[in-house]
Amino acid sequence: MSEARIAERVSELAEAISRDYAGVEELHLVGVLRGAFIFLADLARRLTVPRRVDFIALSSYEDESTTSGAVRLIMDVRTPLEGHHVLVVEDIVDTGYTLEYLLKILKARGPASLKTCVLLEKPDRLKVPTTVDYLGFSIPDEWVVGYGLDYADRYRTLPYIGVVEPDA
Ligand code: IMP
Ligand code: MG
Repeated sequence: MSEARIAERVSELAEAISRDYAGVEELHLVGVLRGAFIFLADLARRLTVPRRVDFIALSSYEDESTTSGAVRLIMDVRTPLEGHHVLVVEDIVDTGYTLEYLLKILKARGPASLKTCVLLEKPDRLKVPTTVDYLGFSIPDEWVVGYGLDYADRYRTLPYIGVVEPDA
């Protein structure tokens, strides 16, 4: 997926989000580290509504491309979310365990609203029903890297999104 195609879609998402949140005092963006950092940077700069940026760090994989379903909170957000409009920004939904866990813990904090913006989703891999309010692209079941996404911490800063071949 080329840099241009990604940029075009991110602009469309930013437009839709800006439209939906027009008039809101402030939108709290919560980026999921580390995969969403580039997506969040591009998305946040294209929004036209007042916004602030925060991060949360989760882990579900031990440095490899296999899933256990176990999600750990590594680093929490810095700002209280109670009464605020929260938009979770995530790189990719694979099984859905990470997003499910995240929504559960953030909902418990009493935000005024809680929605999700996800760049990529692999519908064939979904194990739990998730709510993605703003989706970039649906992709086939392949391990993708670049634009923030990694394979064992590599390829994260590639400007485009590519597929890692199993024996590469
Ligand atoms: P889930 O909990 O199975 O939905 O996994 C979500 C997390 O796994 C994402 O936030 C990514 O960090 C990681 N992940 C899943 N699929 C890929 C991929 O194809 N490339 C890179 N990271 C991935
Ligand atoms: Mg992620």
